Amino acid sequence: MFNKRTEVAKVLSGGQPGEEIIVMGWVRTFRNNQFIALNDGSTNTNLQVVAPLEKFEDALLKRLTTGAAIRATGKLVESPGKGQRVELVADSIDILGDSDAEKYPLQPKRHSLEFLREIAHLRFRTNTFASVFRVRSIVAFAIHKFFVDKGFVYIHSPIITASDAEGAGETFHVTNFDLANVPKGENGKVNFKEDFFGRAANLTVSGQLEAELGATALGNVYTFGPTFRAENSNTARHLAEFWMIEPEMAFYDLEDNMDLAEEFIKYIIRYALDHCPDDMAFLAKRLEEEEKQKPQQERSEMGLVEKLQFVIENEFERISYTEAIDILKNSNHNKKKKFQYPVNEWGIDLQSEHERYLVEKHFKKPVILYDYPKDIKAFYMRQNDDGKTVAAMDILAPGIGEIVGGSQREERLDKLVSRMEEMNIPADDLYWYLDIRKFGTVPHAGFGLGFERVVQFITGMTNIRDVIPFPRYPKNVEF
Ligand code: 4AD
Ligand code: MG
Repeated sequence: MFNKRTEVAKVLSGGQPGEEIIVMGWVRTFRNNQFIALNDGSTNTNLQVVAPLEKFEDALLKRLTTGAAIRATGKLVESPGKGQRVELVADSIDILGDSDAEKYPLQPKRHSLEFLREIAHLRFRTNTFASVFRVRSIVAFAIHKFFVDKGFVYIHSPIITASDAEGAGETFHVTNFDLANVPKGENGKVNFKEDFFGRAANLTVSGQLEAELGATALGNVYTFGPTFRAENSNTARHLAEFWMIEPEMAFYDLEDNMDLAEEFIKYIIRYALDHCPDDMAFLAKRLEEEEKQKPQQERSEMGLVEKLQFVIENEFERISYTEAIDILKNSNHNKKKKFQYPVNEWGIDLQSEHERYLVEKHFKKPVILYDYPKDIKAFYMRQNDDGKTVAAMDILAPGIGEIVGGSQREERLDKLVSRMEEMNIPADDLYWYLDIRKFGTVPHAGFGLGFERVVQFITGMTNIRDVIPFPRYPKNVEF
């Protein structure tokens, strides 16, 4: 057995002078031919490993370069130096893997996030990304814990499907046709009957429709999986592949839905603060440094942890789309024509500049907008009695914009069918979705939380490409 080691995080928190231990990790720096800063990914704090002078051959010391993997055995002692409680005095050091210092792209200095994105295969080895991905992992766990503790059933919705749940036409095709020789029918159109599934298939954009099938039998369910959108958006908040959490609840109306979503978001933020204090402190410091590059008036008033505490401790603002339009229309910002898209009339789709105005300038806290015009929302949302709006809700977060989209679902068969007709959604393909309304239909609701967006919010990372290990976006599918 090889893996008899103590993790650096455990050594630093609980290791006692006198203990004989084995550690393994990667050399961050090697100073004065004596002091190794060793990192094993369990924490950003390095363990100081001392190679006593004269004890090791020069040939070995030369190989202690940044990036090299080593195993060190020795005794913990109280550290005479500042900055650490204990350090390891090495009896033996083995090089597990050399790293050519001349060629290793990560130097012990600050690299830009843009540069690190290009070497995403190595960026896990930096403090920033190690913190981000440890927090991401804990947040994923918190999400499961939240729902499992409430008795929700975790449903695995399909990744390959024949439906476009959002009806937005942003799907990636799934095919095993020879693309140079696609079979065509007499009408010249592609003959999907000959394709793998016997019909056109695509990657899922959302597991919602399947979650509804689960909820209307199991009561409360959730999905947590990858979703794919072929939208050509090159922004700091869009990915072509992102993870989404979609709870779906039977016997829920829109207000129940909003209550659950707010409780859920607060829970996972608190969980991250409670369970990743060191990483959160590191990320807060990182953000503070980043903010210093900005002009004074653009800097945020609160630090990262402070901002998250504020979100947890205060109620989200809840206002209808109609109220939001009034606020925007009458704002000085609008009157001075500062919006790229001026707000003149009821019915427009809100742009991210509008969402950010509401959240960051007007309310200065997360906002839940509800009752949107039916024409800018998906076919499955429950139609309100006014004939104009649907029981939709979006949650907008400071610095990010929309993090949640959800609704009460249309449970009335006739209303759903007529809406689908109006929107040219083929009812035949979705017979299974309609069946739920034919047999024991019930009021139900749900929402989708964009996992990367909430991780962005919690970690304070500005670009969504920096909170998923290997981001997929237009013209990039590296690694
Ligand atoms: O608002 P959306 O499109 O809603 C749905 O997919 C519903 N079926 C959810 C439901 O009711 N079950 O997406 C939900 C969330 C958005 O609020 C956003 O946080 C995230 O998914 N999202 C994206 N995240 C990253 N990149 C993209 N391209 C995203 N598109 C949506
Ligand atoms: Mg949405």
